[in-house]
Amino acid sequence: MSYSRLVRPVLFRRNAEAVHEWTLRRLATLSRNQLALAALRRLYARSAPRTVFGVRFPNPVGLAAGLDKDGRALPAWPALGFGFVEVGTVTRQPQPGNPAPRLFRLPASQAVINRMGFNNAGAAALAARLDKIGPLPVPLGISLGKSKVTPLEDAVEDYLFSLRALERYAAYVAVNVSSPNTPGLRALQDRAALGDLLAALKSESTRPLLVKVAPDLTDHALGELLEVCAEHGVAGVIATNTTIARDGLAPADAACAAEAGGLSGRPLAERAREVVTFVVKRSELPVIGVGGILAAEDALRLFDAGASLVQLCTGLIYTGPVLVRRIVHGLE
Ligand SMILES: Cc1cc2nc3c(=O)[nH]c(=O)nc-3n(C[C@H](O)[C@H](O)[C@H](O)COP(=O)(O)O)c2cc1C
Repeated sequence: MSYSRLVRPVLFRRNAEAVHEWTLRRLATLSRNQLALAALRRLYARSAPRTVFGVRFPNPVGLAAGLDKDGRALPAWPALGFGFVEVGTVTRQPQPGNPAPRLFRLPASQAVINRMGFNNAGAAALAARLDKIGPLPVPLGISLGKSKVTPLEDAVEDYLFSLRALERYAAYVAVNVSSPNTPGLRALQDRAALGDLLAALKSESTRPLLVKVAPDLTDHALGELLEVCAEHGVAGVIATNTTIARDGLAPADAACAAEAGGLSGRPLAERAREVVTFVVKRSELPVIGVGGILAAEDALRLFDAGASLVQLCTGLIYTGPVLVRRIVHGLE
């Protein structure tokens, strides 16, 4: 069945968040059906194994943070072919996120703007769910962020709480300091604040710590961030989160372009590749490349830029789950 010609037009007629919720619910139901999972696995799962920061990945294409924040459909993602899954971003406190509407499609630009604001059930609820599900067939990344109600000066305690609750389930922990939708969060990318946060997390963590960066940093700020990461034994960088820039949008999407939030998808691809290139050149750290992968060639460009692994999010909305298989097939 052609996703782009048959499924997408139907889904795109409905509200973006309603479709996301509907899809997650379907995948959560499917996750409890072993026969359905096995059938999907036969259709989608492909292997192209590699080991990065000491973790073995069955293939290098992962689900980016934000699509399944609470891990509601976890078993479905590996069955759809993903070689790893990042859940979250999760916060210490359960929180509703921003008021709707908060998710917008920009179809002419193959993009999305979101200002979800870390809507999630909280670290304790995620821990309970992961406990129940048990081990996955692929590595699990857990993305941690700051609760909206927590003042910036108490951010470290907030991340530590989530780390303590969750790290036993994680193959790696992603430190999200780059979402544009939690006021003040991106200030944690600054040298002193990031240093304090990483020192605290590192002192308690036994898992590889990865820092997820914004595409809106200057080269100077990114260079400084990489130095801080190296000083604190960070295992890798995830590049990039959504952008607050509005470059490269089609005129037909002008109305939506004015919505506040982070832009993802096609218009982010070039900047994400630049940031991956910069990180690879300026540090020894392995990079997970993410941003604007809508076709297999987009992923290959990020690998060519030096990414060790890639993730996708908006590509799932525009191209559908077959995208993962196409990328891995391209690598074979
Ligand atoms: C609806 C939505 C929610 C997101 N939520 C998160 C999040 O909670 N944490 C995070 O680190 N990134 C989040 N992201 C960013 C993605 O993980 C990814 O970095 C970004 O969308 C760029 O990749 P893409 O162009 O493939 O979508 C979100 C993106 C979207 C579209």
